[in-house]
Parts: sequence; C-alpha cells; structure tokens
Amino acid sequence: MSRILAPLTPEEIPLMREACQLAARTLKYAGENVRPGMTTNEIDRLVYEYTMDHKATPATLNYHGFPKSVCTSINDVICHGVPDETILKEGDIINIDVTSIKDGFYGDTSATFYVGEVSDLAKRLTECAKEAMWRGIQEVGPHATTGDIGFAINKYVTKQGFYPVKEIGGHGIGKVFHGEPFVPSHGKKGRGDELIPWTCLTVEPMVNVTSAPIEEFDIPGSSHKFYKAKDRCLSAQFEHTILITDEGHEVLTFLEN
Ligand code: MF3
Ligand code: CO
Ligand code: CO
Repeated sequence: MSRILAPLTPEEIPLMREACQLAARTLKYAGENVRPGMTTNEIDRLVYEYTMDHKATPATLNYHGFPKSVCTSINDVICHGVPDETILKEGDIINIDVTSIKDGFYGDTSATFYVGEVSDLAKRLTECAKEAMWRGIQEVGPHATTGDIGFAINKYVTKQGFYPVKEIGGHGIGKVFHGEPFVPSHGKKGRGDELIPWTCLTVEPMVNVTSAPIEEFDIPGSSHKFYKAKDRCLSAQFEHTILITDEGHEVLTFLEN
C-alpha cells in the first residue's frame, strides 16, 4: 500500500469497467459451481481457465509469490486462503476472492458462498458482511473520506453483534492491484483520506463472530499471509471495486444479470 493512484482518464474508464465486469462474471461462475465434495484446487482451476478464456490474467497468480489464481477462505479463514486439496463439506462457508487483470487494469471482487445448508449463525454472519459492504459503499463519493466508509461498516456490524476486522481492509486499485488509500472497516466520520473522483477503491469488510485478535500464517514462498482469529471463530467477507465519480460512485464489479 504505497502508490497514490492518478484519476482515470475518460479513455481508461471503459477498460477498468471491462476488467471489473470480467472479475464479477468469473466470481459468479466460480460461485455457481460450489458444491460439497469439491476441492478448493478445483475452484482455482475454474477461475484460471475462465480468466484465460477471456484473454485476461488472474492477478493473484505469482503476486508476491502467491501460488494460485484465486483466494479461497473457508469458515475460520479471514482472507487469503490458498486453494489446495481441502474438500468442501456441507455446512461450510467459503469466500472466493477473484482479481482479474485485463488490458492492464485490475478488477477485484469477492463473495461468501454457502456449501449446501449452513447454520443460522453462518447465514447471519454472511448476510451481515454483505450488508456491511453495501453500507460502506453507500458512503463513497467526492469529498467523502475513508473514515466515513469505516464508520458506516463498523456501526452496522456492531449493531448485529459481530466484529469487523480492523487490521485488514480495502485499497486503491486501477492500473495497480493494491494502492492507496487503505479502506478500513472502522473509523471516524470525516477522518482518513479524502476520496478523489475518477479513482477506484475496494470496499471489502471482513466480519468475525468474536473480537478475538487475529493470527497470521505464512504462505510458503510468498510474502503474503493468510489470517484466522485466534479463537478460530467463523469469518465472512464481501468485496466490490468502486469508481468514485463527480456525483457519487459506480460499483464496477456489480453484475446486472
Ligand atoms: N484479492 C485480495 C484483495 O482483496 C488480495 C489477494 S492478494 C494474495 O485485496 F496475494 F493474497 F492473493
Ligand atoms: Co479481493
Ligand atoms: Co481487494
């Protein structure tokens, strides 16, 4: 998180839209194929092939040594889960996080899916994470700040009796994967960085069942980590990539159909 991103030019905006729509379609395709008995490596393969078939590149593959084309975070994994031979079982929840590079632009989106029937707690947590993301997105516009987004997310999550992860959050995105600003899931109104029209950022709250501190785990060969809460509570997450406009925002990874 270090690069300040320049506003997109009118010529660049359609390219960013395309990258984001491809990421969204890839996520939808992966999610539709989630079923008990499959491995997360199979999800990785679906994402890899779909991305390649659409003349794009999976952004996570070899990103600072990350070995796979998608992140798959099951149950207590907060984010950056690495696909492997783990078999999905009835009752699991899984966040699938897709980032595509198309024509040099990055689109980043994730959702939490149910594997068969899941517990009421898993449903409530997942719905909370989704609504928290939308509450955060509603704040995005010119003159708003990252603190406004974090405040709205934290307020909603807390009201539901859950806990937003404070250490990890959204980011600027565009011609790079991760740029400034950091987009927190907590904060004070009017604080943080001001949002700049025609730049893009992600809103991607991670929501946990408890307030237990988070623990990081090495990903072999990578400088990235994956995370769980110390008490191994359930965690859910949703993510969209958003364009800040002169009037408000556009959710670039939203699919109309
Ligand atoms: N897609 C994740 C995000 O939302 C980042 C994954 S980076 C990886 O920012 F290296 F862990 F894959
Ligand atoms: Co992502
Ligand atoms: Co992201």
